[in-house]
Amino acid sequence: MMRFHDGRRAALVVVLGCLLAGQALAAGDVARGGDVFDSECSDCHSLKAGKNRKGPSLFAVVGRASASQPEYNYSDVLRKTHWTWTPEQIDVYIKLPKASVPGGRMKYDGLADAGKRADVIAFLSTIK
Ligand code: HEC
Repeated sequence: MMRFHDGRRAALVVVLGCLLAGQALAAGDVARGGDVFDSECSDCHSLKAGKNRKGPSLFAVVGRASASQPEYNYSDVLRKTHWTWTPEQIDVYIKLPKASVPGGRMKYDGLADAGKRADVIAFLSTIK
């Protein structure tokens, strides 16, 4: 009988945990995300603070305001988004940049694989 109750409590904790994780992105894997960054993003993005390449630096991008790197010449459309780069917002953007920010300058086809997106976002969360 106790075991039954404990099992139910454990299940409840799992359910609550998922709810608290929010409009939950699956938890990504940081190490795999580093590989995804290298193959998908690093041609255009540096992780060093203030070092812009074709795209703006992605140092501490998670939680940052969109189009906020002072030395970077953003597209007008991205400037007008006034987003915060939450994990969810990054997820939407990198899934299909041209749909998320039509007319934006990120010439990247997007990352269709939700697992890879979660991984690269988990990785970016550690760069701060
Ligand atoms: C072909 C080059 C290129 C690739 C590849 C690329 N980006 Fe970008 N990225 C850009 C450019 C250019 C911008 C600026 C867009 C604008 O001004 O509209 C940008 C902007 C961004 C921003 C907004 C940053 C800010 O300061 O507002 C994020 C977040 C971002 N990219 C993430 C990624 C991630 C993550 C990947 C890999 C999955 C990636 N990008 C791949 C070129 C690229």
